[in-house]
Formats: sequence, structure tokens, C-alpha cells
Amino acid sequence: MTDPSSASDDLVAPSDAPRRRRGLRYGLLGGAVVLAAAAGTYTWTQVKPVVDSRKYAKVTYQVPEAQQLTAQPGETVYRIDPTASSLTYEIDEEFAGRDTSTATGVTNGIAGDIALNADDLSKSRIEEVVANVEQFHSDNNLRDARLRQDFLESNRYPLITVTDVELDGLEGELVAGEEHDFTLTAAVKVKSETVKTTFDATATLTDDGALEATATAEAKLSRFGVGPIRIAGLVSTSDDVTLTLELTAYDPTERTIPTTITGPDAKEPTDAPSFAETVQPILEANCVSCHAKGEMGSTHVRLDTAGDARAVSQGLKTVTELRYMPPWPASDEGVPLLHEMRLTDDEIAAIGAWADAGGALDVDAATKLEATEDVQGPKPRQDVVLERPPYLGSIDNTNDYRCFVLDPGFTEPTFMTGTTFLPGGELTQLHHAQLFHISVEEKAFAESVDGEDGQPGWECYGSPMLRGRGPERVGSQERDAGFAGQSNLVGGWVPGQAPAVFPMDSGVLLQPGEALVLQMHYHFTGDVTPDASTIALQTEPGDSDIKALRVVNPLGPVEIPCAPEDQDEPLCDRDAAIADNVRLYGPTGASNEAGLLILCNKTPEELTAGFDGRRASSTCDHVVPEDGTIVAVLGHMHTLGSSFRLTLDPGAADEKVLLDIPRWSFDWQMNYGLAEPIHVERGQPLELECSWDRDTDPTRAPKYIVFAEGTEDEMCFGTYALIPDAQRER
Ligand code: HEC
Repeated sequence: MTDPSSASDDLVAPSDAPRRRRGLRYGLLGGAVVLAAAAGTYTWTQVKPVVDSRKYAKVTYQVPEAQQLTAQPGETVYRIDPTASSLTYEIDEEFAGRDTSTATGVTNGIAGDIALNADDLSKSRIEEVVANVEQFHSDNNLRDARLRQDFLESNRYPLITVTDVELDGLEGELVAGEEHDFTLTAAVKVKSETVKTTFDATATLTDDGALEATATAEAKLSRFGVGPIRIAGLVSTSDDVTLTLELTAYDPTERTIPTTITGPDAKEPTDAPSFAETVQPILEANCVSCHAKGEMGSTHVRLDTAGDARAVSQGLKTVTELRYMPPWPASDEGVPLLHEMRLTDDEIAAIGAWADAGGALDVDAATKLEATEDVQGPKPRQDVVLERPPYLGSIDNTNDYRCFVLDPGFTEPTFMTGTTFLPGGELTQLHHAQLFHISVEEKAFAESVDGEDGQPGWECYGSPMLRGRGPERVGSQERDAGFAGQSNLVGGWVPGQAPAVFPMDSGVLLQPGEALVLQMHYHFTGDVTPDASTIALQTEPGDSDIKALRVVNPLGPVEIPCAPEDQDEPLCDRDAAIADNVRLYGPTGASNEAGLLILCNKTPEELTAGFDGRRASSTCDHVVPEDGTIVAVLGHMHTLGSSFRLTLDPGAADEKVLLDIPRWSFDWQMNYGLAEPIHVERGQPLELECSWDRDTDPTRAPKYIVFAEGTEDEMCFGTYALIPDAQRER
């Protein structure tokens, strides 16, 4: 077995380590929790601007105007009756954790003339048909709003136009009451893209003088620049779309063609739950703190008023049913966790029933939603406010991971027993923050990179990515199964989270000269303004009765073969992929995975035996390194992560799942406090389980993936905070 502690000696950058915008690529595995190390193109932050529900919920049901035709000799002009016509799209849609289903949207805002030549049908003409895409409505008003706003940009491009129409196979005389089959080829323009599209069509002139036609075409969303639609962790669609035109047209000289239409039918009021009594309190207690104007979730969906909620009512049903919102990836299979942000089944059912009934309001639409005051336990004192210079990001780097040293300048050992995140800029540009404890050695390295690019701090994906040995271990000196040289993750903040006091009179012991690193994930969408967010500490003297926390990192190997269709790609060969990692990261590019396989007593063959072409999994048995009390737990994987679980005493009658994440969310990697801390003994077994799904990020270059720190690599990384019974001298 390799001695994992020797890995620390390898933790040096290859001399030519490329310093890329994606972060410092040192061969450093050590970052205790390389959170977000792989924030690739699929983090939600890059694909979802605000649904300005007011603007996009409001659709005017007007019939568009199309070029009108004048009948030539032998022709009869038929004009489309919008009240009896529609354009429908059908796309396959897959919601996280659900089977694929078909999403269907309809618009009736259609106009156009058809000049029919009854004696020689081949001479019939269509110059232009237009349809209003803003009026597309489906069974989900959030989908409609997103489609309108993000994909169709219907404020700018309200119409689809069909021009240059060629009719093929329409011949001979018109026989009333008989079906005529033909193909219709036309230039279809969506937004600014025009794509030649062929429809299979049938038309009949009915006995009462209506021209009825159906035309169906298969198209690709991507050709029109509107998809495939993908909101990571929530929904993805096929690129294929079926477009169906159902038209009924009449001779306008014989009857008046309606020029007004109504929107989707309003639902009959039912005995659905009251908004004011049932739904509003749920939203105010669980959603509004993040979705009110100015808060970070508001850049996606705004929930300021009752009317805002109604405008996306079905979306609220979808995201709560899927347990996508509120963000709390942990399931209730694990032990109870502190400050759970989970809706009860009844609450979810209530939102669903209200949405199904049409999302009716029994209050004025302008009624303000107010976040319920949070009651997340004691507030830490702010004994020391750490300062740092303001940082100004750039819109060119939308997702900016930036690290700053926060130096408390303690001259005596001091406990940090609580933290308060102090926002120092626009909340809408803050995504999350993590706090790491760094050693004197790491701090020296940090000072060498700080400000290198002319701005305070340094770019850091995931962990601070510092060289040097990590902070001294507390408790026994024996190393755990992790790797040495780690900056310890000791705190974090996501919007809506209350300040934290470490549990059970514990704290992180900061030795003189040691410091903290604040890693900020900024997300810039509009105006970029300076930010000086920081942390305030609650402190106690190092010789007080506070117990020092130890961060333990059980890890597991990663073996993810390529999808079957990519098997012939050069880097799909495991040896070639590992050689590539050595090139990228130095010796650790090979030794980390090799060490983990030995440590966990696994072989690549064993781990890949169950690989089904998409899903891979891994497990590793660990033991608790010393007697103590586990107070918090978290998991870390990159964007292919699918599930995570850490189990104490696996298989035993009293096994305890410390953390179960059935659907991994890269965006919401939270630190979970245990509602009831668990006392453990040295040698007690712990099982780590991770799984990945290649389908969660189809843009990944084909490569056999093993444990490594890069954005294209994966990790199976557990962390728990242990308060050792035997506290070291200090
Ligand atoms: C901790 C902050 C937070 C809380 C609490 C929260 N949200 Fe969100 N919500 C977000 C963020 C951030 C996004 C955008 C990123 C994402 O989708 O993960 C989002 C996205 C959404 C979306 C948009 C999905 C899409 O189409 O992009 C909806 C709808 C939503 N939330 C509804 C809710 C509801 C309903 C609740 C309460 C039951 C809730 N949220 C609680 C932060 C939060």
C-alpha cells in the first residue's frame, strides 16, 4: 500500500504548469474540497438569465398580419381563420429523475392566404404564413416564459415566417370533400435563422367551403439557434422538434375571418388550496429569501409579488415536485440534518394542486411576498472582522472563482468558533463563498500569487490551489485515508444561509501566522461592481475549553470509461488517459488514482464491470481515524456526479447514512451539519459511494476519466468534521 502521506511530497507543480484561465493547474490534489473545480459550461449560471416574469408573462393575443393575396383568374383566395388554426411544437423533454415525455406548445396567432386554383391545383399559391411564437403556450407557464425569453427571444422576434413556398404533388382538379396529399417546402424563419423545411401535408375542401390543411415537419432546434434546451440538473430537451400546422381557411369574400383570438382557456376555479392561506406562507418561508428582487435567485425567477408567483405557477409545481427547489440535494434517508431546507410532501402537494387549478390568486396580484425571518439558531458574535481590498471582476469572465487571503494576524493560538459572511457588494453577483484554513507555508505561497494579474487575490478553481503542507492536524497525528497537504475547508456560505456557530463548543484552531482563504464564486450578468465581501469571526482564546475540529477526507477511486460510441478515441484508452494526466498534472496525475485503488482494494476491472455505457460507480471502505464526534459532512464530485453517499457501519443493524445525495447537484454542494452529532470510535467502518453519469455533461471531450483535479476529471470525495475526544496539547 502506498503511504498516502508521501503524496504530499509530490504536491508540486510541474515547472511548466500552465496557468490557465481555468485556474492554477498544480499537481495538487490537496485542496481539501475542490469544490467546483470543474465548473464547466454547464453550470446553470451560464445559461439562465432572469425570467422577468412580468414582461414575459404578459402576452398580447393579437393576430399577426401576413401578406394578403388577390385572386387571379381561376383562383379562389382562402384566408386562415386563427380561431380554428394552430401551430404546434413537440419536443422530447427530460426532467431530472423523470422519464422522457413530450412537451407540446401551441399558438393560434396565425395568418396567411392560400390562393387555390381549382382547375389546376399545381398552380395554387401561398406567399406567406406567419405565426406568433410569443403566444406559444404549453402545460407549464415557466417553460413558456423561458422559451419566450431565453430561446426564442420573442420580444425581439415575435413571428415565425413561412415564405418561398413550393407545393409538390398537388395536381389535377380540386375534388371537394376529397383529401389531397402533397409536400410543402418553404423557407421557415425563426429568430434570424432561415431553414428550408419540408412539410408533409394534406388538404381538403369541405362541403361547407372550408379549406382544411394539416402540415407536419421534422426540424432541428439547433438549426434555428433555439436549442436543444438545457438547464443543468432540471431539464434537457431533444434537438428534434415536430412542427404541425393545422389550418382552416375560408374565402374572405364569403365570410368574415375573425381577427381576434383569446389566450389559453382559463381554468374553472376549483376547491384548490388558497394562495393566501396555503401557498404564500410556503413561498415566504422557503423561497422568497433567495428570489426577492436583489437576491441571487432573483436573477433567474423573481418572486416579489403574488402576481410573480402566479405567472410561473406551473414552474413552481415542477421545481418543487422534482425537489430541485429549494436547493437541498440531501435526501431524508440520511440522519437528520440541521436547518433542512426541504418541503414536506404536503407542502409540495399544495403547490401542485394550486398550480393545477390555474394558479388563481385570492389576494391582489401586487401583494408583496415577504421572506419569513429565518430562525437558524444562534448568531455568532463578530469579534474580528477580516478585511480585504475590493475586487472588480469582468463581464468577460462570467463565472469568476477568486481567492483572497484573510489574515487575522493572531499572535496567540486562537479558536474560530463562528463565522458570519458579510456581503460587500451586489448580492446578485455573488454565488457562493467558501472558507479555507491555510498553513503558514500555504500563506507564503498565496502571497506569491496574490495580485499577480493586477487585481487583489488570485483566480482559483475549487480549492485555493496552494502549494505547501496544510494546517497542522489536530487530535492524533495519524493521517487519515486522505492526502496530506490540504487546505481545510472550514466554512461556506450560499445565499439564504444563516451565520454559523460551530457545534458543541468546538472551533477551528488557528495558530499564529496561519490564515483563512475566502474563495468567492462570482457570477456576472450585467453591470460588474466592486466587491469586498468578507468574513467576521467569533473567537475564543486557544487555551479555552473549546474543542478543536479535525477535517477528515475519505476518498474513493474513479474509473469512468468512455461511452461505447467513443471507444476508438485515443484518450479512451485508460493508459493513454493517465499519461495525459501526468502531462497535465505531473506524477500525481497517475499516482493519486493508483494509490486510491490500492487503498480501497479495488481494480479498474472490478469498478467498470457494471458500466452500462453511461453510468459508472465506485465505493471505498474507510475507517474512522480516532475516537470523536462527527458534527458535519459533505460530498464533492465534479459535473458528471450523479449520486453520493457516506454510510457509517454499513450493513450493520444500526448503520447510519451520514449523507445521501440521490441526485448530485454540482451547483449546490453544501456543508451539512448533523442535527444530532454522532460519537464514533477509531476503526469504525465508513463506506463511501459515488456514481457518475456521462449524460449529465455531453460536451465532455471523450476521455477515460480517473481521479484528478481538472475540470474534465472527476472526484469521489467525502469530508466530515470530527471533534476528537483526545485533544492535543496546544
Ligand atoms: C438558497 C437560495 C434559494 C432558495 C431557498 C430557493 N431558490 Fe429557487 N433558485 C435559486 C437559484 C440560485 C436559482 C437558479 C439556479 C438554479 O436553477 O439552480 C433558482 C431557480 C429557481 C427556478 C427556476 C428554474 C429555471 O427554470 O431556471 C424556480 C422556478 C425556483 N428557483 C423556484 C423556487 C421555489 C418555488 C423555491 C421555494 C420552494 C425556491 N426556488 C427556493 C435559489 C434559491
